[in-house]
Amino acid sequence: MSTTKAVIPGSFDPITYGHIDIIDRSANRFDELHVCVLRNSSKSGTFSVEERIELIEESVKHLDNVTVHHFNGLLVDFCNEIGAETIIRGLRAVSDFEYELRLTSMNKKLNHDVETMYMMTSTNYSFISSSIVKEVAAYKADVSNFVPPHVAKALDKKFN
Ligand code: PNS
Repeated sequence: MSTTKAVIPGSFDPITYGHIDIIDRSANRFDELHVCVLRNSSKSGTFSVEERIELIEESVKHLDNVTVHHFNGLLVDFCNEIGAETIIRGLRAVSDFEYELRLTSMNKKLNHDVETMYMMTSTNYSFISSSIVKEVAAYKADVSNFVPPHVAKALDKKFN
């Protein structure tokens, strides 16, 4: 039987409980799950790629089938490189839909064999985004409900 592999791509700047929810739930469904930090050309980064990877690795260390990567090119090329045919994305609200439709349609045009699957983010986390967490952290507010303790510490160090 062939190994099932999926990729969870994103900016992860930084990882939140919303991302971890999707990673946890996907890890049960695939033999191998590959979390990949990629460049989103419309976002300027707060954390370096190395910092993001470190924060993700600490967040997924309880999952033995999850590997963390970064890739400097197209997501579909990363999928090709590791032999994954499934991309997983979390969907929080209707407001995500248009952007996700563009992303998925482009990826499908670039590589027809790679399928994107969407998972609804658990309602507890449906309002969380890395950017809103950073905004709150910059005002020294408590972010412990939105990110794990090691990420909260990194945000504190970055902003204060
Ligand atoms: O967490 P994000 O910022 O919503 O993730 C977006 C990301 C990084 C997955 C997307 O921008 C991406 O795939 N970047 C790599 C370049 C690419 O493949 N672009 C083509 C799809 S539009």
